[in-house]
Amino acid sequence: MAIRSEVEQWDVVIVGAGIAGLAAAIALRKDGRSILVLEKSSMNKEVGALISLQPNASKIVDGWNMQPFLAEKKPMVDEAFRLLNVEGKLQVEMKLNTSQFGADRMLYHRQDLHDALRQAATSENMPGSPAVIRTSSGATGCDCESGTVYLSNGSSVQGSIIVGADGIRSAIRDEVIKGTTSEGSKAIPTGLSAYRILVEIDKLPKLDVPEDVFDLKRSATTMIVGHDKRVIMGPGRGGEMFGLVCLVPDPNPNGEGTSWNNPAPLGEVLEAFKAFPTWVREIMSQAPDVALWQLRDIDPLTTWTKGRAILIGDAAHAMLPTQGQGASQSIEDAEALQAFLSGIDSKSSSEEVHAQLQAIVSARYERASLIQAYSRLQAKPAASKDNKTVQLNPQEFMEYNCNYSGAKDWAKRQREAEEMAYKQTAARA
Ligand SMILES: Cc1cc2nc3c(=O)[nH]c(=O)nc-3n(C[C@H](O)[C@H](O)[C@H](O)COP(=O)(O)OP(=O)(O)OC[C@H]3O[C@@H](n4cnc5c(N)ncnc54)[C@H](O)[C@@H]3O)c2cc1C
Ligand SMILES: *[C@@H]1O[C@H](CO)[C@@H](O)[C@H](O)[C@H]1NC(C)=O
Ligand SMILES: *[C@@H]1O[C@H](CO)[C@@H](O)[C@H](O)[C@H]1NC(C)=O
Ligand SMILES: *[C@@H]1O[C@H](CO)[C@@H](O)[C@H](O)[C@H]1NC(C)=O
Ligand SMILES: *[C@@H]1O[C@H](CO)[C@@H](O)[C@H](O)[C@H]1NC(C)=O
Ligand SMILES: *[C@@H]1O[C@H](CO)[C@@H](O)[C@H](O)[C@H]1NC(C)=O
Repeated sequence: MAIRSEVEQWDVVIVGAGIAGLAAAIALRKDGRSILVLEKSSMNKEVGALISLQPNASKIVDGWNMQPFLAEKKPMVDEAFRLLNVEGKLQVEMKLNTSQFGADRMLYHRQDLHDALRQAATSENMPGSPAVIRTSSGATGCDCESGTVYLSNGSSVQGSIIVGADGIRSAIRDEVIKGTTSEGSKAIPTGLSAYRILVEIDKLPKLDVPEDVFDLKRSATTMIVGHDKRVIMGPGRGGEMFGLVCLVPDPNPNGEGTSWNNPAPLGEVLEAFKAFPTWVREIMSQAPDVALWQLRDIDPLTTWTKGRAILIGDAAHAMLPTQGQGASQSIEDAEALQAFLSGIDSKSSSEEVHAQLQAIVSARYERASLIQAYSRLQAKPAASKDNKTVQLNPQEFMEYNCNYSGAKDWAKRQREAEEMAYKQTAARA
């Protein structure tokens, strides 16, 4: 007893304060439930980029009463998806009619979304007890059975539930998948890299492009595709910023280096996109700085849970950004924690905890794994070699991605589909 009481006890210990970890902290808030979030970094320089929340994820966030925290962040509604060829001619315009999904596709500055989630997780003005966030507190691993998380400074904490939200290079993942066929799974290079650029719209010169082709302030996502390269771009923060993600084949696909994100000279980007319209390259050339990211993802894991621990977000299912689903899938994971863990408290046995964590994995696994796979499919060359045929079909996965009504409903749909398949097999027999 005496030894055990030396280890700090919490109801929930979340490792990682990224979008997944903070969303989980908000979702799990409940009167009398103590939540600790451990974050390795000092959390003062979240990467600057634009990020989208797909209709259902934005609906989940709305349901958490996040409006007071989000309203001041100037979110934008993404109203259309526009596809241009390498000559800058409009090929497809898809109005994002998201009314059928009950919410809009929202665009945020990644720092703003992260800030709002952090405020909501720790605010006194939200339902339930505020979460405690400790920064500069990296976890080195955990014991899934006892719920102990080990910290790099040699101390440890204990939780009834451990949520591994520590991103694509997760330390908690190593423990969860130990002894399974996924043991040793690591992030893998995907053959793609991305230059990320964020510029202030006011600082841009007048662009030489007709407004019906492209307008900086149009609340839409524009994609320009050349054979093996593409630019995905749009405005953010109420039209103050303009963000570009410029995908190229990975120049160093077998590169072992530990740095995934390297400053890149502007000339390199302009050279890579020299076949693209001049006005796009003009936007690029105003970049205050450019970084080249090697894009990695992970293969679907055999499981996301062991004992009292569960993986969520990129730790569980890191995916390519080609579908803009990474953040949304993290939010859906957080909603699943909320839905299945409402009856769990400090008195719950480890069997009770594990049964609920397993139910979460069952509800979430197929969907997140499929979106991971779709994201890889969408990474294939977007136009033919001569750039004459655009091969990408943005509509294809939209419906699947957006037609989601929470983890419990999804689990019910899966059961119904299985019963249907069973009946069909039985009828044939
Ligand atoms: C620049 C950039 C742009 C992106 N753009 C998009 C986009 O447009 N659309 C989209 O859907 N997705 C995008 N993504 C992906 C998206 O951000 C993630 O999928 C999503 O945020 C979920 O991430 P996460 O919280 O699981 O992991 P992360 O965001 O990686 O957060 C993990 C957190 O855990 C901390 N951590 C790591 N190890 C430890 C440890 N051992 N102990 C304690 N803490 C630890 C990290 O410091 C970090 O704060 C982008 C990602 C990046 C980096
Ligand atoms: C959007 O979808 C809804 C529901 O399917 C439909 O009723 C409506 O007419 C559509 N609106 C537009 C502008 O296409
Ligand atoms: C180690 O880090 C944790 C989390 O930040 C902190 O609570 C604890 O006091 C630290 N312990 C030591 C011995 O520094
Ligand atoms: C097609 O686009 C690519 C950019 O991905 C470019 O390098 C190539 O020169 C273009 N080819 C033709 C025939 O226009
Ligand atoms: C969503 O999925 C349900 C059940 O699988 C289906 O009946 C419905 O038509 C779908 N709705 C849309 C808008 O795709
Ligand atoms: C997702 O959208 C569907 C369709 O509009 C809706 O029925 C459902 O409640 C939404 N799910 C969540 C968790 O908000």
